[in-house]
Amino acid sequence: MSAKPPRKFFESLSIGAPAPFRELPVALERMIHFFPPHNEKVRNRIGEMIGRVDVLLGNLEDAIPADAKEEARRGFIAAARAHEFGGTGLWTRVNCLNAPWFLDDVTEIVGAVGNKLDVIMLPKVEGPWDIHYLDQLLAQLEARHGITKPILIHAILETALGVTNVEAIAGASPRMHGMSLGPADLAASRGMKTTRVGGGHPSYVVLEDMPPDQGTRHAFQQDLWHYTVAKMVDACRAHGIKAFYGPFGDFSDDPACEAQFRNAFLLGCVGAWSLHPRQIDIAKRVFSPDAEEVAFARKILAAMPDGSGAVMIDGKMQDDATWKQAKVIVDLARQVAA
Ligand code: GLV
Ligand code: MG
Repeated sequence: MSAKPPRKFFESLSIGAPAPFRELPVALERMIHFFPPHNEKVRNRIGEMIGRVDVLLGNLEDAIPADAKEEARRGFIAAARAHEFGGTGLWTRVNCLNAPWFLDDVTEIVGAVGNKLDVIMLPKVEGPWDIHYLDQLLAQLEARHGITKPILIHAILETALGVTNVEAIAGASPRMHGMSLGPADLAASRGMKTTRVGGGHPSYVVLEDMPPDQGTRHAFQQDLWHYTVAKMVDACRAHGIKAFYGPFGDFSDDPACEAQFRNAFLLGCVGAWSLHPRQIDIAKRVFSPDAEEVAFARKILAAMPDGSGAVMIDGKMQDDATWKQAKVIVDLARQVAA
């Protein structure tokens, strides 16, 4: 087996560099908690969030009014300066590439607090060219400001063209951290007929297959986002980066939020956005493995110490492949416990 090349970040940060040696970032990122940095009251409570959430993200893009964009940018810089974030990740969502605020968002924030910033979330990414642009801009700014830890890029998958190019986006740069589904913008871009932010739709159903004249037929709702989440997870995993579900906009329906997050978790996502404090615990619960599942996974690992062969546990066949499945769950449980 050939040894993995060492991961020397700055040497590998060139456009089009192949990414097969990349390893999944190890930090636990079950929820990316959004805050509006122009809101002073919210800013004053950031200290309480550190340690409570896995990632804190200062949002500069959609939902921040045009006349508050600069205040939001200044507020983010002030918040970043005012705190030590410890194990909590510090991210920002900048405005999209063709918005008038994008360039100042990146240059001012990286210049002021680039050494504290872990990840820039880039909205409305349509192809690898968008990542290349930000990649080179970050390389210049990091060199100019003597930033020692490379700032990573997280793309939002929220246009039809972005979904078409998802694999090229995932592999566009060694700086790629991961990707989130953006169901609101994506719905608009695709011409979907919904006004919801994520979640289901009562009309997106399959009727029970039986003759129409033989009584009431059950209607089964389908997941509007299954196709995109599955496609995103494959692209991300193939390139060694992380996949996330994005926002769930109905703050009055926690069970539906939990169900949507859980589908994403089961399909391979590692986290989701929390747009409201009530979604923090939902994400924490969903994206941490279930205790019973962990206990069963541990039994599998114990029954096949070298990861090979075939054994029966509780009537279920286990082999090399289920050993790998079990390892995914036990590794996550270890990470959560650490
Ligand atoms: C998020 O940005 C979305 O558009 O859903
Ligand atoms: Mg969006």
